[in-house]
Amino acid sequence: MSINSTISKNPNKLKNILVIGNGGRENSLAWAIQKNELVKKVYLIPGNAGSERINKCERIKIDIKNKNDLLEKLNSLKIDLIVIGPEIALANGLADFLRKKGFKVFGPGKDGAKLEYSKSWAKEFMQDANIPTANFWKVNSLKEAKKVIYSSSIPLVVKADGLASGKGVFIPDSKDECFKAAELIFSGKFGDSGNVIVLEEKIEGPEVSVFALCDGEKFILLPTAQDHKRLMEEDKGPNTGGMGAYSPAPLITKDVLSRIVKEIIEPTIDELNKKNIDYKGVIYFGLMITKSGPKVIEYNCRFGDPECQTIMPLMDQNFVFLLEKCSMGNLTGSETIDTTDKVSGCVIATSKGYPHEYKTGFPIKIGNIDSLNCQIFDSGTSLSKNGELLTDGGRVLSVVCQDKDFDLVFKKAYKNLKEINFNGIYFRNDIGHQVRKNFSKEN
Ligand code: AMP
Ligand code: GLY
Repeated sequence: MSINSTISKNPNKLKNILVIGNGGRENSLAWAIQKNELVKKVYLIPGNAGSERINKCERIKIDIKNKNDLLEKLNSLKIDLIVIGPEIALANGLADFLRKKGFKVFGPGKDGAKLEYSKSWAKEFMQDANIPTANFWKVNSLKEAKKVIYSSSIPLVVKADGLASGKGVFIPDSKDECFKAAELIFSGKFGDSGNVIVLEEKIEGPEVSVFALCDGEKFILLPTAQDHKRLMEEDKGPNTGGMGAYSPAPLITKDVLSRIVKEIIEPTIDELNKKNIDYKGVIYFGLMITKSGPKVIEYNCRFGDPECQTIMPLMDQNFVFLLEKCSMGNLTGSETIDTTDKVSGCVIATSKGYPHEYKTGFPIKIGNIDSLNCQIFDSGTSLSKNGELLTDGGRVLSVVCQDKDFDLVFKKAYKNLKEINFNGIYFRNDIGHQVRKNFSKEN
């Protein structure tokens, strides 16, 4: 994949880049950014144990909440561009603060991040802009919730309004279960994120993730991706942050994509402008392709994880220019990302017990890895005192490969996974089942 040459003559200085965040997503962003020869150094705050295995990358140990220390450090490192990964930092206004101090920042301000940190606000936003989404009811008390649940003639989904690390959405099978979910949210389990509940019409269809890099007015799209949210094979078990992904998603044909752009993406950016929100960052559209067309399930104000690890290897060295152009508000909108014949897939290796309780601190052994068009992005790892790689999260490693078709991609990814071991390692064997022609033969 190569990005149109009109942007490769970018004259701006891009020597020192900072990526904020500590996941596989941020490591893959740093990896794609360092490909550009103008880039001398990519700093990660805080990064993880895999960050410094990436060319030109260095971790900075500093608490981003300590604003004075942060500013001093960024000035001394002469940072040219800041990319903010996680939603919490964006929701807390980190992008606004850094922009005010004169930095170029890729990531929306607090106002734009509201698309993700308040589900009820996002639903009202979509209603205002006539963007297709499931019907909804915003409720402020258990009494109100009870009334809606027991008088509804359609199945409902229950969602905590605020950020809940992907754990605030419930898909109940009955009205009683629905009520129990509402009770749990209002009980304070999610803190202030559960002060309001959104009850939503349950809709059906395959899900797809679409990412628009946005400069406030114009946007360009990254290749589409499909995530696998459920823990177990055949899409069973509890929801997770994501167990694997593939890109591009063949389900999104040119026609479907142009419908998504017209009915969802353009109206979203128009509505942001109407509300005076200058959105400079990525908008992640979590969509469901229903019988009546694409509908928005959720907005996020950040890249998806593991979609980002999957998509980044499809970017060429000009990717960092796109981020910079968004941060400066000077996308032309005609930048194109030319697809070649490569596709990409990612399988996540997790700790036993994830997404519930799990233990960490187990040594990770990595054997003979095929590294041609394959990457391992650490998601949750740390180093022991003597430099041994240890598990340090629910999602531990993102194993990513590219090739000319998905059968080859996943053959390589699973071959590499056989070379990786740690106590309690778990991964799904059926990532990409939708697009693997030889899927049943391999399993
Ligand atoms: P969210 O965090 O809002 O993306 O929700 C997590 C998951 O719950 C989504 O990826 C869907 O699989 C499912 N989901 C959310 N909203 C709905 C809905 N209205 N109808 C059916 N499934 C939903
Ligand atoms: N992969 C889903 C997410 O990042 O929310």
